[in-house]
Amino acid sequence: MKTFSKTIRIPFLLLVLLSWAATVRPALAQDLEALLARMTIEEKVGQMTQLTLQAVSETKGEPGVPHEIDHDALREALVDRHIGSLLNVYDMARTEAEWHALMADIDDLTRNESRLGIPILYGIDAVHGNNYLAEATIFPQNIGLAATWNTDLVAQAARITAQETRAVGLNWNFAPVLDVARTPLWSRFFETFGEDTYATAVFGAAAVRAMQEPGPSGYPAVAATGKHFLGYSMPLSGKDRTPAWIPERMLRDIFLPPFQAAMDAGLMTVMVNSAEMNGIPVHADRYVLTDLLRDELGFEGIAVTDWEDIGKLVDLHRVAANYKEAVFQSVDAGIDMAMVPYDYGFTDALIELVEEGRITETRIDESVLRILRVKKSLGLFDTSSPSPTAHIHIGSDASNAASLQAARESMTLLKNTGVLPLGKEESVLAAGPALGNVPMMYGSWSYTWQGTDPDAYPEGIQTLDKELASRMNGRLAVAPWGEFHEPDRLRAMAYAADVAVLALGEVPSVEKPGDIESLELPEDQMALVRDVAESGARVVVVLFQNRPRIIRAIEPYADAIVLAYLPGPYGAQAVVDVLDGTVNPGGHLPFTYPRFTGSLVPYDHKPSETSDILYGTDAFQPQYRFGHGLSYTEFTYSDLRVDASQFAADGTLRVEVTLTNTGDRAGRDVAHVFVQDHVASISPAVRRLRAFSAVDLDPGEETRLRWTLTRDDLRFIGHDMRAVYEPGVFSIHVDALTETIELP
Ligand code: BGC
Repeated sequence: MKTFSKTIRIPFLLLVLLSWAATVRPALAQDLEALLARMTIEEKVGQMTQLTLQAVSETKGEPGVPHEIDHDALREALVDRHIGSLLNVYDMARTEAEWHALMADIDDLTRNESRLGIPILYGIDAVHGNNYLAEATIFPQNIGLAATWNTDLVAQAARITAQETRAVGLNWNFAPVLDVARTPLWSRFFETFGEDTYATAVFGAAAVRAMQEPGPSGYPAVAATGKHFLGYSMPLSGKDRTPAWIPERMLRDIFLPPFQAAMDAGLMTVMVNSAEMNGIPVHADRYVLTDLLRDELGFEGIAVTDWEDIGKLVDLHRVAANYKEAVFQSVDAGIDMAMVPYDYGFTDALIELVEEGRITETRIDESVLRILRVKKSLGLFDTSSPSPTAHIHIGSDASNAASLQAARESMTLLKNTGVLPLGKEESVLAAGPALGNVPMMYGSWSYTWQGTDPDAYPEGIQTLDKELASRMNGRLAVAPWGEFHEPDRLRAMAYAADVAVLALGEVPSVEKPGDIESLELPEDQMALVRDVAESGARVVVVLFQNRPRIIRAIEPYADAIVLAYLPGPYGAQAVVDVLDGTVNPGGHLPFTYPRFTGSLVPYDHKPSETSDILYGTDAFQPQYRFGHGLSYTEFTYSDLRVDASQFAADGTLRVEVTLTNTGDRAGRDVAHVFVQDHVASISPAVRRLRAFSAVDLDPGEETRLRWTLTRDDLRFIGHDMRAVYEPGVFSIHVDALTETIELP
């Protein structure tokens, strides 16, 4: 996209001529096969190369040093080395004007100076809003979006993110994460839609559809990326990028369906899992990247590596003796583009491999065609059309209202003995590390990679202490964290207050820097809760978290617990809305909140996991169950019916239940429909989510909810590794109601 920013150095008239030339040239590119036929091997391999912006910059990302492009290096990359893609912005968000200036430079070089004028894909991790754009609308992280169970809202967040990404010229979003979070230890838990496969598939596909839906020009705003293909999210050690051991049955049952759903929704690209699975680094795994991805799933889009991962086949995974061998292994396995990201090592090695005949040019052509096809689908060759997001106002009031709505809907009331909503006269003590802490509300991928630098955030973000102060009309005392953790002083302050709001949190972290040694909440935060509770004040705990930290020891001291996840810029407002009752909380857990670090068991575990010597047949004792979430009103489920009369004819099963708001205020509940297979040739899970609805009801209002399940919802991965249906007895569970039926 061109803008006439002051950083453009080419005289205006020349620019006009060059733009005209650029609109003529793409006519040649309409036929991608013909374009491919004109390309040299250097041009083809260049398309398969992705460099980080840092590789073509004067400054290398030192904090506080303004970014400067190295124009010679950029020209070398785009014109001499024909690279097909750039990514990232090395750890520093940029303004809209800076992005436009950068994109104008890139556009001029690729379209007007490179031999074939092939535009580039520019990839960015816009994972909760375009978080590397200073003015962008930022949303809660995915784990909070999932807690809303509002698929339309998930889609709206993805749509706004995509539009605000393309609006500055970026056309490839490395999102959504489609990994199913099967270990709460994992540092990327918050980037997921939770522990359930079905929910991840529904939310992931909705996000992909929204990101890639055609704009007014007929082209999508961005290409979405399903990441990380495949088996990334259950490292055995719980630590990022450590080995996963996932049997094929589990891979197909738990981890594959969200990718399948996203592909059915038109997913254009996938990013490869950086770690090893079953002993094979996925970047070198032909079974995963070709047999499964291409031959079985029929995926036609781009498979891009993750960061530096070809090199890691040599120095980390040790399956390749040298870099050239690693390039051979990964291209042979099936990758299309290497996120190299600093140099031309991949490019040079791949050219040599083609010259030596180890990689055929036909194999290269497959990848290049996939890359060109994505570029064409995005309208990048069509410079005569307006940008798909020409009409977008970045950070508009409406977009920010959607972020506030998402933060509010995500708030999950885990416990309430009646202290919430707070009384209008009650005096409040506020304390805890998350109180005045902006990064703790946002989590990582916020203006910087780790999101820890408070100076990188926009000014004026409302923190919880300020929000409480503005709404508690002189009834608030604040005990700042750090300066103030003297138990005696704290107890005295707590003694004087009716209620203490304790904002607990986790310093943002992600990927390797986010590895932890224990899931327990840090001891100083637990001590805070105990000290305050012992003073007699009633305690409201508010949790801002990357992942569910164990709170068993302090839970009995808390009169109420609000899980805020990582709610983003409107977190403080959304939390206080719940505390004072402005908003009736309606969020529900998209994961099982564990009670013990040694019992990290998901809700859809096997029957044998619910019995042990200590607890008899009910050994599954999470702190809070999957789907849990309280409200200030009461909901009652009744009259669950399962109609199987059509099942033999068309494989459908109709499920109905009545949901009534029996309390005295309007509220939202989420109805989850679980299926239990009583006997199967592969030991069945105790239950599996197969449908859900988030429902708003006024006091006294009731509604009849209806879902249609199909035979596919009853299938599991059988002995032959295919999805199989076996007749027999099934139960359908909604809330505490159960209907059991025998199906032919
Ligand atoms: C992460 C990816 C991300 C990529 C590009 C990697 O370290 O694993 O999720 O898209 O960096 O920033």
